[in-house]
Amino acid sequence: MPRDTAKQRIVFPLDFPSADQACRFVDRLSGRVGLFKVGLELFISAGATVIDRIHRSGQAGIFLDLKLHDIPVTVERAMDRIADLGVGLATVHCGENPAMLAAAMAGSRGRVKVLGVTVLTSVAAEHLRPAGLGPPWVHDLPELVAKRASMARAAGLSGVVCSGLEAGLIKSRFGADFLAVTPGIRPMGEGAAGRDDQERIVTPAGAIQNGADYLVIGRPIRDAADPCQAADRIAAEIRTALAAG
Ligand code: C5P
Repeated sequence: MPRDTAKQRIVFPLDFPSADQACRFVDRLSGRVGLFKVGLELFISAGATVIDRIHRSGQAGIFLDLKLHDIPVTVERAMDRIADLGVGLATVHCGENPAMLAAAMAGSRGRVKVLGVTVLTSVAAEHLRPAGLGPPWVHDLPELVAKRASMARAAGLSGVVCSGLEAGLIKSRFGADFLAVTPGIRPMGEGAAGRDDQERIVTPAGAIQNGADYLVIGRPIRDAADPCQAADRIAAEIRTALAAG
C-alpha cells in the first residue's frame, strides 16, 4: 500500500448499506483515494463477495475493518479467513489480553497487515472512568493509547489505529515504520456540527504534521455536495502539509 502521494494517504470508508451504493462511490473515488475501507455495515449486508467487486472496480487497496475482539482462538480463526480475502489491512482491538493480538498475528499468516485499535476516536477522556478505567489512564488518554500500542508492537502488529492527535507520540515511541492510521479527521471550517460522533478530531494537515500514515475520512467526503471535489480538496491540504514537513 503505497503512501508516496497525498491521495494515497486517504482511506475512504465505504459506510453504506449495500454493495451497489458502495460500488457507486468506488467508481467515483477510484484514483482519488489510496484505500477503500470495508466496515461492519457493508460486510454484514453484502458479505465477503463485496471485496472482489471492489477489487474489480477500484484502483485502490482494501482495508477490512472488522475490529475483531474475542477469545484468542476465535480471533485467530476469523483472521485466518480474512487472510484469504486479498485485503491489505485488517483490524483487531488491542483489548485487554496480549494473547488476542498474538492470535490475530498467527491467523494473518503474513498475508494481511494487522492494525490494533487503541482507543476509538469517539472516546474522550471523560468516558474512561465510567468504562471502568482508573488512574493514571483517566488523566492521560494519550498514554492509554501508547500503552495499547505497546501491546500491538510487542505482538508484531504492523501498526495501530489512533487519533491524529496521538500519531506523533506513536511515531516517537515505536518508530517511523509502525503505522499510525488515523480516523476522526475533520477539515478546517467544518465546525462543531461537523464532528458527528467523533471526539478526538484533527484536521488533515494536523494529522500529517503529527506523522499519520493514512487518514480515514468518511463523512466529510461522503456527505459533501461534491464528494470528488471534497476528496481533491483534502488531498491538496495533505500535499501542502507533506511538502512543509
Ligand atoms: O470520517 P468519519 O467520522 O465518517 O469516519 C467514520 C469511519 O471511521 C467509520 O468507518 C469508523 O468505523 C471509522 N473509525 C475507525 N476508528 C475510530 C473511529 C472511526 O476506524 N477510532
